[in-house]
Amino acid sequence: MKELMEPIRTLVDFRRGVVNPDRVIERKTSDMQGMYVDELALKKLLSQGNPFIYQIREVNIPQETGHIIYSTTIIYPGKVGQEYFMTKGHFHAKEGTAEIYFCLEGEGYLLMQTRQGRVSAIHMKPGVLGYIPPYWGHRTINTGNKEFVFLTLFPGDAGHNYQIIQKCGFAKIMVEEDGRAVLKDNPKYTPLNG
Ligand code: F6R
Ligand code: ZN
Repeated sequence: MKELMEPIRTLVDFRRGVVNPDRVIERKTSDMQGMYVDELALKKLLSQGNPFIYQIREVNIPQETGHIIYSTTIIYPGKVGQEYFMTKGHFHAKEGTAEIYFCLEGEGYLLMQTRQGRVSAIHMKPGVLGYIPPYWGHRTINTGNKEFVFLTLFPGDAGHNYQIIQKCGFAKIMVEEDGRAVLKDNPKYTPLNG
């Protein structure tokens, strides 16, 4: 039998995420190269101080079957060209694993896509829980004018596969048009089997 793990108490600030996390992962503009349609706008942001796009605050949970890993993500408000700040997006390495996203603060979209290119989007605002079923890749986008904060919970053995999204992109992008968030076809999307 494995060694018994002690229970953990975690304080979550709805506006800032996990308080005293074991690990903070920061994603800057430079980490998002190739992910936005407007390459020039990205270059401009890089030259303007390479601002943070998002931050993940994690608690140490074993990455093993039976455990549930949880963390919070803060996506800062902003745009690269017309496209809103967003996460890189990924499929789980073990693709048959689901995930729960629960919005704590701000607003945005949980954008999901299957390997076959089917797309679904959930509008997130405080109190909205988005369920990502197995086999859906996922990315989140801050379409508001303040921090978009959410809690995520996923199986310990899910793992992450960023390569598919890096290679193909998402079929849709979220852009601002006349002050509104609009989902549009991504001109840079290359279908996996296309
Ligand atoms: C974990 C998960 C989230 C994301 C986080 C950052 O499976 O979906 O905790 O890891 O929102 O997004 P990525 O990982 O795409 O940079
Ligand atoms: Zn995930």
